[in-house]
Amino acid sequence: MKICFIYHSYSGITRKLVKKVQADCGGDVVEVVPRQRYNTLTAYTLGCMRARNGECDPIDPEVIDVSGYDLIVIGTPVWAFRATPAANAAIAALRGAEGKKAIVFATCGGSPGETIPRIREALAGKGTRVIGEMVFAKKDTEDEEKVAALARMIMDAAEGS
Ligand SMILES: Cc1cc2nc3c(=O)[nH]c(=O)nc-3n(C[C@H](O)[C@H](O)[C@H](O)COP(=O)(O)O)c2cc1C
Repeated sequence: MKICFIYHSYSGITRKLVKKVQADCGGDVVEVVPRQRYNTLTAYTLGCMRARNGECDPIDPEVIDVSGYDLIVIGTPVWAFRATPAANAAIAALRGAEGKKAIVFATCGGSPGETIPRIREALAGKGTRVIGEMVFAKKDTEDEEKVAALARMIMDAAEGS
């Protein structure tokens, strides 16, 4: 029944959502932070280009050991219709993720593009099966019912482990 939330957040929306959901579900939280911080200009130029190409940024922590968890929850902002380079790096950094279940969510302005399918694919490469997914447009992150639905999805998945 142990849950590990792993996320990247550039401007704080994904972080706020994780905090709300974790308050309901419990579990540990790992925020990944790119070593080279973006600013508005570099996020929309370099960051979006790297996101489009599915690249990984150097992040802290470098390794994320999830062997002691039953459920992994991955959250990312959408950049250029994809996961952020730091979120890609978080998946690459997973250790002990084989055979685990995952729930994936993205926050965005309303156009998630290929974010979730690509994360699902990257997690499959780690032997991790995505059993639930959710996309939050900006206004949805303040929608208590939708936030509660994500928390419920996570708790149901954790109880089924
Ligand atoms: C560099 C950049 C690229 C973005 N690209 C998209 C996009 O392709 N589609 C979309 O719906 N929102 C896009 N957004 C909006 C963010 O995904 C959205 O505001 C998200 O909730 C931010 O999460 P955060 O505060 O945790 O970083 C972009 C934002 C930034 C900064």
